[in-house]
Amino acid sequence: MVDKNSPVIEVKDLCKTYFMPGGMSQSVLKNVSFAVNHGEFVAIMGHSGSGKSTLMNILGCLDRSTSGVYKLVGQAVSDKTDSDLAHIRGQKIGFVFQNFNLLMKRTIADNVSLPLIYQGVSEKERYKRAVQMLERVQLTGYEDRLPTQISGGMQQRVAIARALINNPEIIFADEPTGNLDSKTSDEIMHLFTDLNKQGITIVLVTHEDDVADYAKRMIKIDDGCKVYDGPRADYGKDKK
Ligand SMILES: Nc1ncnc2c1ncn2[C@@H]1O[C@H](COP(=O)(O)OP(=O)(O)OP(=O)(O)O)[C@@H](O)[C@H]1O
Ligand SMILES: [Mg+2]
Repeated sequence: MVDKNSPVIEVKDLCKTYFMPGGMSQSVLKNVSFAVNHGEFVAIMGHSGSGKSTLMNILGCLDRSTSGVYKLVGQAVSDKTDSDLAHIRGQKIGFVFQNFNLLMKRTIADNVSLPLIYQGVSEKERYKRAVQMLERVQLTGYEDRLPTQISGGMQQRVAIARALINNPEIIFADEPTGNLDSKTSDEIMHLFTDLNKQGITIVLVTHEDDVADYAKRMIKIDDGCKVYDGPRADYGKDKK
């Protein structure tokens, strides 16, 4: 059984430096530490270039830190090989990106069930699971359409269905509403709120205050440093 009070994510003194050709380097994350417990809903905010996507890519095991410790569901990620990391990603993590990242020439059902191909799941079973996931995001009946035949908000819901197909512990979303209008953003945020109520931990990056308001907790990054970590509702209270 999952211990609801145990961290799903623990980072300690996380640093990331990008090394460029010609000997240049840029320190982008500086001693960032925090933990996220099972079932939390966290918004990561900060100015453009502050290091949010860099942090998300490390948390999502798409990249590695330069130093520091990252434990995902109690396991130290830094000790793992790339193929271990790919396995962890497949088992524990769902991703949602700003630009949806759908395959435009494949049907919606194919897009949703894509992660199952790597697990050797049969075509019939993949379709069945895609239908179930599309129901969770209120897109029943759209299985056989192409992404070009649905709206942007619907495309993002397809991406969320794809993120759900492996039954992940956690969903990372980097600016999931960045390409959507405010009404559609609200619909997507309601969907994330429902998924969070079902027990999925959600960590999302956003620039928008309205979007961050759906989260219970906020972490603010400024120039690679964590400068706020606490209830979203309390952020900025001392300045008012
Ligand atoms: N692969 C990379 N190689 C070198 N520098 C990088 C790389 N990725 C990001 N950076 C640099 O790291 C800094 C932080 O980038 P990052 O994408 O994490 O910011 P961000 O907070 O997500 O910004 P935005 O809000 O614009 O998405 C930027 O100065 C960026 O140029
Ligand atoms: Mg970014």
